[in-house]
Amino acid sequence: EPYRIAVFVGSLRKESHNRRLALALEKLAGERARFDYLRIDDIPLYNQDRDSDFPAQGTRLKNEIRQADAVLFVTAEYNRSIPGVLKNAIDTASRPYGDGAFDGKPAAVIGTSPGAAGTAMAQQHLRNVLVFVNLSVMAQPEAFLQYKEGLIEADGSVANDGTRRFLQGYVDRFLDWVGTHRQR
Ligand code: FNR
Repeated sequence: EPYRIAVFVGSLRKESHNRRLALALEKLAGERARFDYLRIDDIPLYNQDRDSDFPAQGTRLKNEIRQADAVLFVTAEYNRSIPGVLKNAIDTASRPYGDGAFDGKPAAVIGTSPGAAGTAMAQQHLRNVLVFVNLSVMAQPEAFLQYKEGLIEADGSVANDGTRRFLQGYVDRFLDWVGTHRQR
């Protein structure tokens, strides 16, 4: 049975490079995993006043996470951190206090940007957040991918051999990490 991976893409843009990267990883995972892409664009801005009247979109997000074996974060970098839309979704899914959706699940972080540092700063900020919500975040391998035009096709195929092998290694290690935690 394939692992169920709940995927956060930290960009809402239609032509998102990070969405392409997530598709590439899904393809490379093959039969070992099923990727479920989480909708985060409709999650209301988190407001603690609503912990007792939780927004339905937040409950939906939490249920999707709970049904997954693992969580994968594929994120853009905005101003040397993670996009607000992603932080909002994580804050929502972590609440109300004591009823967060992440507790104990395996997770991993990856991202791509046109800059040479390839989302390194955003990923480091994100790791800080994910450890606090008690996800079991894979330490290595890290993957900071500098996006160049044509690196990943719209369907997630990767023409460059070196890049494809690098991403294959990353996804293989991630699924091994998931395997050491399997729960449900
Ligand atoms: C960016 N971009 C960017 N890139 C980067 O490497 N480091 C950064 O700090 C930032 N900051 C930043 C802020 C804002 C508000 C925007 C809109 C963009 C560029 C960013 O990497 C680029 O737009 C990517 O294409 C975003 O990822 P997606 O949407 O293609 O997945």
